[in-house]
Amino acid sequence: MRTLAWMQCCLLCVTVAMAQDRSASDPQESPEKLAGTWHCQFETPFGVQTYHLHFTEDDRGGTTANAEVESGDQTREVQFSDVKRRGDSISFAEVRQFGEREFRIDYQAELQGRDLLVSRSFGERGGQESTATREPPKPVPAASTEPVVEVEIDRLIKDAFKDSFLIGMAGDLPTRYSDAELKLAAEHFGSITPENCMKPERIHPAENRWQFEQSDALVNWARKNGMTVHGHTLVWHAQTPNWFFEGDDSETIKQRMKNHIETLVGHYKGQVQSWDVVNEAISDGGDAKTAETEHLRDSNWLRALGPDFLTLAFKYARQADPDAVLYYNDYNIESGPKHASSLVLLKRLLDQGAPIDAVGIQGHWRSGRVPFDDIEKAITDYASLGLKVSITELDVTIRGESGGQFGRRRFRSSAPPSLEDLNAQAEDYAKLFAIFEKHQNVIERVSFWGLNDRRTWRRGQHPLLFDANNHPKPAYAAIVRESGPSGGDEASVPSGQIEVEDGE
Ligand code: XIL
Repeated sequence: MRTLAWMQCCLLCVTVAMAQDRSASDPQESPEKLAGTWHCQFETPFGVQTYHLHFTEDDRGGTTANAEVESGDQTREVQFSDVKRRGDSISFAEVRQFGEREFRIDYQAELQGRDLLVSRSFGERGGQESTATREPPKPVPAASTEPVVEVEIDRLIKDAFKDSFLIGMAGDLPTRYSDAELKLAAEHFGSITPENCMKPERIHPAENRWQFEQSDALVNWARKNGMTVHGHTLVWHAQTPNWFFEGDDSETIKQRMKNHIETLVGHYKGQVQSWDVVNEAISDGGDAKTAETEHLRDSNWLRALGPDFLTLAFKYARQADPDAVLYYNDYNIESGPKHASSLVLLKRLLDQGAPIDAVGIQGHWRSGRVPFDDIEKAITDYASLGLKVSITELDVTIRGESGGQFGRRRFRSSAPPSLEDLNAQAEDYAKLFAIFEKHQNVIERVSFWGLNDRRTWRRGQHPLLFDANNHPKPAYAAIVRESGPSGGDEASVPSGQIEVEDGE
């Protein structure tokens, strides 16, 4: 069945390609039509997905849309819903079911010359763009598992900085991680942040339903492997289900927040050492005027409870676990008007008696554009308020061609980064760690957002210390070098010697 559909689609492609050749020689020929078959690719955490899109017009002017989607060695058939056609553009939706959860992806596609520009949105989780063409893409060659360059490391990063701060990573370990990845995590990192499994939508999907299984497994695994856990995240505008805000009654919404924090922080009391209590409350951008204000993001929390929602969240968290270190966590707060707003906000919280201990600078940066001076100044600014600082979600994406930046482009290659780009990234990481070392009295922890260049939300942009096959990259060696000469009392990298506990 599938083979037949695929052959039909190829036949159609050949016909369309022939028609295109004719039109190329005749500028009067009518422009491209939407109907027929198009091909585009998206990079996802599970690898490249190839969409073979089919748009069919019926007699009554309606359009249907479906696709075969190739992902690794699997193909799935998709019937799109909510198909709406307007002239040269079309929108449709893909609804996927994962267990009890429904996941919707909204697509917009628009003809542009001979291409079809396709963008897709995952709601608050962001979106992607790809250029669809009439010709199917060449099969993606199996990526080499060899590293771009052999990197020798003589010290584990967590040992190199053991007198300065903790070194951590993010991931929903141990579920669905390979043994090699679990070993890597336990060997090199001393702290773990749950990447998604403690977020409200995952752990508290409905008012009377808690799903602790995955995060219980993470906390047990971390304990057995001697790692601390940083909880992420209690109050956020994203990945938070709408039930929290239903009914518009602020007292009820406040009680829901209280209950969420009390139950979750209470459940892990003594096992989760610190929490991102409020995540990303400040708006992006800003100017000289907003810099004088808190410039809070227009979120459901702000609309329901006003600016006090932050103080309340910190108070509830402190009550639930008086020993946990409580963080305000955000991105880009080291620079520009957003940095100024963060100081206004933090001062107000401290004045109001919000029990806040630390600031998390997320640290999603781009190689070649890391704002070193801003970062150093931000660390000292926060320290001057009496707060500790952690770099909570560090990744430095590789720039340019070999960084595979997301955007409107033709099929993306899974090409490895160039050595030049890897070295530039290493230099940026080394400079960052020199700053962190200098401020070790303020910095509690530096956590990477992911484990390796496969287990990262910036897949294809090679942002972390290990490549997709767990080989250390030049950045690892450069960071460890930055920490000074090996003291001799630490074990050299004992690859293959660490026993990983399974967390059961
Ligand atoms: C990201 C995760 O890495 C993705 O897997 C998920 O789809 C979306 O969220 N700032 C945060 C993190 O505080 O929670 C985000 O994590 C990355 C940006």
